Amino acid sequence: METVVSGIRSTGCLHLGNYFGAVGNFLKMQDDKDYHCYFFIADLHSLTTHPTPDDFKRNTNEVLIDYLACGMDPEKVVLYAQSDVPEIAQLYLLLNMIAYKGELEKVASFKDKIRKHDENVNAGLLTYPVLMAADILIHKATKVPVGKDQVQHLEMTRNFSNRFNHLYKNDFFPECFPFTFSGNPIAVPGLDGTGKMGKSDGNGIYLRDEPEVIRKKVMKAVTDSGPTQPNSKMPDSIKNIFTLLKLVSQEATVAHFEVAYNNCNIRYGDLKKQLAEDIILFTNPMREKIKSIIYDKTYQEKVLKMGAEKARESASKTLNGVREIVGMNKI
Ligand code: TRP
Repeated sequence: METVVSGIRSTGCLHLGNYFGAVGNFLKMQDDKDYHCYFFIADLHSLTTHPTPDDFKRNTNEVLIDYLACGMDPEKVVLYAQSDVPEIAQLYLLLNMIAYKGELEKVASFKDKIRKHDENVNAGLLTYPVLMAADILIHKATKVPVGKDQVQHLEMTRNFSNRFNHLYKNDFFPECFPFTFSGNPIAVPGLDGTGKMGKSDGNGIYLRDEPEVIRKKVMKAVTDSGPTQPNSKMPDSIKNIFTLLKLVSQEATVAHFEVAYNNCNIRYGDLKKQLAEDIILFTNPMREKIKSIIYDKTYQEKVLKMGAEKARESASKTLNGVREIVGMNKI
């Protein structure tokens, strides 16, 4: 049995990028008897941007509801909010002692944050990879299903776990690796012709978006005037539309539009309409499920409480082991 940990930062509802980059894999893993899964809402990570208490609560709740709507089963996996497991914060403190400023400053996501938000470069942002390592190591996980953008963070986790083992001359923590079923972590593009789909980039299609909203967003996707030479190379903006189409549409549909592109008779309006309808079809069951549980606070509370109990059981075992190794269990 392998231990699996993953989470998503609670900075808004889940979008297609979260689904195909992460949650889709969570769901496959929860049904596999070889995996013992811990999936959580990374709400402590969201504190780097100073949400109001109301926003903090709402954001945590939205991710919980979206997780459940995608089909995550709290009976099959341990589903919890990070802030309900204080052992994670304690391990984070200890790992911070062996994490170096220099290596943290080199992390791509940190450099990116400095570039975009130089008014709020706090220590929590710098030590984001340390908290992430604590999330993973608190359950001694070996497999971490994540999107491509998290691969460097997992490398840091391996650095910290190996360093801890080396410093205290033991093999307490195992090494963890990114995991996808296809072997390649995927990056889901946004529809604005630029990079990946992201909550903060304003280019996301959310699982709970109503059909009309999805149609509007997709129709606005960036395209160009179309190919003029047969079999020309696709520009990024068009490639992105095809990437999304491949995720939600039938193979025959994708093939149809590829042929049209290569023959220079593609109509981007039709392509986008098809993409919108297939996204709507794909997300329909999730929207239905969200509507059925969104007001059921009793159920939501029950799920979080059960998850926190199970997560703390595993977390306290690990933390106790760490305390022993470090010398904190004194007598
Ligand atoms: N950093 C991840 C993200 O931005 C979320 C995350 C936090 C995470 N802790 C984790 C993912 C531990 C996997 C394992 O989505």
